[in-house]
Amino acid sequence: MQQLSVLILAAGQGKRMVSDLPKVLHRLGGRPLLAHVLTAAHQLENTATRVVVYGHGGEAVRAAFADEPSVLWAEQAEQLGTGHAVAQALPLLDEAGITLVLYGDVPLIQPETLQPLVDAARQGRLALLTAKLDNPAGYGRIVRDDQGQVQRIVEEKDATPAERCLSEINTGILAVSTTKLRRWVAELRNDNAQGEYYLTDTIALAVREGVPVEPFTVTEPLEVQGVNDRRQLAELERYYQRWQAEKLMREGATLLDPARVDVRGALVTGRDVVIDVNVVFEGTVRLGDRVKIGPFCVLKDAIIGDDVEIFSHCWIDGAEVGPGSQIGPFARLRPETRLAAGVHIGNFVETKKTCINPGSKVNHLTYLGDAEIGSGVNVGAGTITCNYDGANKHKTIIEDDAFIGSNSSLVAPVRIGRSATIGAGSSVSRDVPDDSLCLTRAPRKEVTNWQRPVKSKKL
Ligand code: UD1
Ligand code: CA
Repeated sequence: MQQLSVLILAAGQGKRMVSDLPKVLHRLGGRPLLAHVLTAAHQLENTATRVVVYGHGGEAVRAAFADEPSVLWAEQAEQLGTGHAVAQALPLLDEAGITLVLYGDVPLIQPETLQPLVDAARQGRLALLTAKLDNPAGYGRIVRDDQGQVQRIVEEKDATPAERCLSEINTGILAVSTTKLRRWVAELRNDNAQGEYYLTDTIALAVREGVPVEPFTVTEPLEVQGVNDRRQLAELERYYQRWQAEKLMREGATLLDPARVDVRGALVTGRDVVIDVNVVFEGTVRLGDRVKIGPFCVLKDAIIGDDVEIFSHCWIDGAEVGPGSQIGPFARLRPETRLAAGVHIGNFVETKKTCINPGSKVNHLTYLGDAEIGSGVNVGAGTITCNYDGANKHKTIIEDDAFIGSNSSLVAPVRIGRSATIGAGSSVSRDVPDDSLCLTRAPRKEVTNWQRPVKSKKL
């Protein structure tokens, strides 16, 4: 089978974004626009050669994809048009194969839509993706003959008033044999309204050579919608999120309002998951069966076990929550938090690099950092692990069935023994043996019939 090269044009400055960030690095669903296009290309054919044309000063774009070594890069120092952009990448394309042209700022294109174009190109045709728009202003128009055969594309600025009335537009996406593309691109001239080398002029060249041109019309115009400004970016973000929400519901999740959940990454849900409003998922998140998430939560790179309930206003980042646990409201689980089964984390509790074994409870106003908590432990309100001495972090270990009284400071490194009890208000800086009571409370002082000072009279 002829090798597929996917050529992604991304040299445009994106002036209308009014941004210091190159346009294709702006994010949609938490990922750069270009990442969506690269993924679509990979899903289409995972052996495809992917080439990105980037612009002058676009080093930041290359750098953003440094972890994708299979992507090839071609610089287009000056933007002289889409045809010129393609020419810059020709040396990187597989000569005996076919080339599919995509755009770094058209992020929602789907592999299924592209497949027929690739197939047609492999059969020797020039495949073109078109769309029928109510308002075609700004786009290149598809000009067909009386038999409905595509003849050429005319850019809006070069079009006659009659041509401007055509509602079928060029999405810019096309596929054709690389040899032919090379031949036609070499023939392009810039004697047009914009003084640019138009890739679209290759259509007329194909027709002249008798190469069949096969148009495909998209059923969902959003797939070929480009991002030129932040308003369009926001619009596509909403569409993208609607797709995500519909996918989640198809997979068996209840969304109390599909318009108020945002997935910025990959979310995998179990059966009968319930997600309340205004929940944001980032990175890779896995939810087990029957997980319930209250309103206003953020979950990032997290694994949540079956039957977990997360109450409102929780922030969960880089954490693993065991089955049947309860979190929040207002809890913050930071990276490397590992909770076993049936753990309770209550309001205003923060954990970091902390592992908590089955059935332990940390219900109120607590900070646990660099800690290992056994099973059946009760951590009282206001307990703090003093894990940082200003220079280094130290570990706190609390053994099974220990009881930590409220408002205690555990000054790490320190170990609280099995079934030990810490009296409320203690500051513990040495290890506590198993089964013992540790109390550092100052002895109570009492003065009977105490007279409070009174204000002295002004002289
Ligand atoms: C282009 C098409 C037009 C089509 C429209 C769809 C041409 C001549 N016209 O017009 O028929 O309806 O897209 O959106 O192709 N780019 C480069 N280098 C360049 C110029 C552009 O990489 O020198 C990239 C841009 O980053 C952008 C894409 O190509 O992603 C399209 O460029 P743009 O200038 O927006 O083309 P249009 O004039 O909109
Ligand atoms: Ca455009």
